[in-house]
Amino acid sequence: MAVERWIRPRHFIFAAIGSAIGLGNVWRFPYLTYEYGGAAFLIAWIIGLVVLGVPWMMMEFGMGRRMQSGAPGVFAGIGKKWEWVGWWPAFAAFLICTYYTVVMAWCLHYVVGAATMAWGMGKTGAAATGDYFFGEVLRLSSGPSVLGPPIWTTVGFLALTWVIVYLIIYRGAPAIGRISQYVMCIAWAFLLIIFVRGVTLVGAAEGLNFYLAPDFGVLLGGEVWFAALSQIAFTLSLGMAGMFAYGSFIARRGDIVNSAGITSFSNCATSFFAGFAIFSTVGFLMSAMGIGIGEVALSGLGLAFVAYPSMVSMLPAAQGFFGAIFFIMFWFLAISSAYFLTYGGVVIPLMHKFGWSRVKTAIGVCGVTFLIGILYTTQGGLYWLDIVDRTVAFYVLLLSGVLAAIVVGWVYGADKLREHINETSDFKVGVWFNWIIKVVLPVGLLFVVVYGGFMKDIAPEGYEGYFNWSWPIWTILGVTLILSFVLQGIKTRAPKGVSEK
Ligand code: PHE
Repeated sequence: MAVERWIRPRHFIFAAIGSAIGLGNVWRFPYLTYEYGGAAFLIAWIIGLVVLGVPWMMMEFGMGRRMQSGAPGVFAGIGKKWEWVGWWPAFAAFLICTYYTVVMAWCLHYVVGAATMAWGMGKTGAAATGDYFFGEVLRLSSGPSVLGPPIWTTVGFLALTWVIVYLIIYRGAPAIGRISQYVMCIAWAFLLIIFVRGVTLVGAAEGLNFYLAPDFGVLLGGEVWFAALSQIAFTLSLGMAGMFAYGSFIARRGDIVNSAGITSFSNCATSFFAGFAIFSTVGFLMSAMGIGIGEVALSGLGLAFVAYPSMVSMLPAAQGFFGAIFFIMFWFLAISSAYFLTYGGVVIPLMHKFGWSRVKTAIGVCGVTFLIGILYTTQGGLYWLDIVDRTVAFYVLLLSGVLAAIVVGWVYGADKLREHINETSDFKVGVWFNWIIKVVLPVGLLFVVVYGGFMKDIAPEGYEGYFNWSWPIWTILGVTLILSFVLQGIKTRAPKGVSEK
């Protein structure tokens, strides 16, 4: 199989930044900051970024380039019996693709909805956005066991999204890199428009006070560390197989330390900036509607699909324009994560394992993922989206990070990886890196799983009781793990790059 390469170093940087920046930067980060101590949260989050995030990214880029393969090939290269450690996150990437693109389909629905201000203008419109989202766009049923028929509009937008993903990935890394530059610049430009509109609104300052109001006392508890570290893991798109593949496309002389640093910091700067755009808007909504912050839907998808449209209704002018811009931006932020997951997380591992052609693998993966995604377009789809999201974007992501760090750190040898990284990097990493990979990273991530998964109830409120269903979570974890071993057991032509030179 021909070697796949980024054409220019900057293409790689844009593709990696695009994979990291996604929906999470806009709906997850600002809310967590507000919820967990404002400026104090930022301290925990920056420590998490520097101590865990950047070294973890260096590990994925570095191992990908060293082994010239996606995640399963990387671990098969360390030892045949470890191949499953790479398949497990590949399954997670596949499952995330199935629902991430559905959220993108809702965004497209909202682009049209905003252009016509379908939920109404002024106070009446602002009060109707919840009904519009749950009643009209989702037609949400009473629980996960009541699926109902698919919502065909969403299926249509989902199909469109998958066709676009396919058109971006079928020519491989060179095209992905080039396209990522445009995707990211367009997304940033739109974010800037939203930001300027936000901070120039009446009441913006009051909202920003909520965003960053420091409460340093929280740093002494476990909660804020849990929130910060889990956000770092999610936002950098690590533990999801794809970054190994993106790393494998780096030319032999590419600088790994620099790339990981630039990618992580740009991603986090974008989150911080998005927080201003969002909270200034929240402040405006509070003053325009005369409500307290407790009455604004700040957490999760409600922020984008309920609170933001309310604020759009209250704008003095150009409502449709700002509504549409917001959702186009959201879609652009998400598409680079979607093709990253599809290509780096799923297509590359399958191509390398089975020797299939890129076009055929891409058509197969996009097609199957689209078909599974139809489940979330049904009336009970949101419940399932939530269950799958919680399982893979929390448990699999973190546990696969723990496993990868242990296998790379102790079996392959953190020092060997460090030497490989240092060979071509301007900034040489010291011996501290070995200990971060071998001890700090696995322990830090395990802390998050144990604290968040077992000691704290991470289930969100409001979905009446179906979170007592833990069986889907265990089933998904079990089945994907078993299938990872099955894939490891299938004998095929040797994955590329497995031989140690
Ligand atoms: N990092 C992306 C975001 O912030 C989400 C994502 C997670 C994408 C894991 C890929 C893998 O939205």
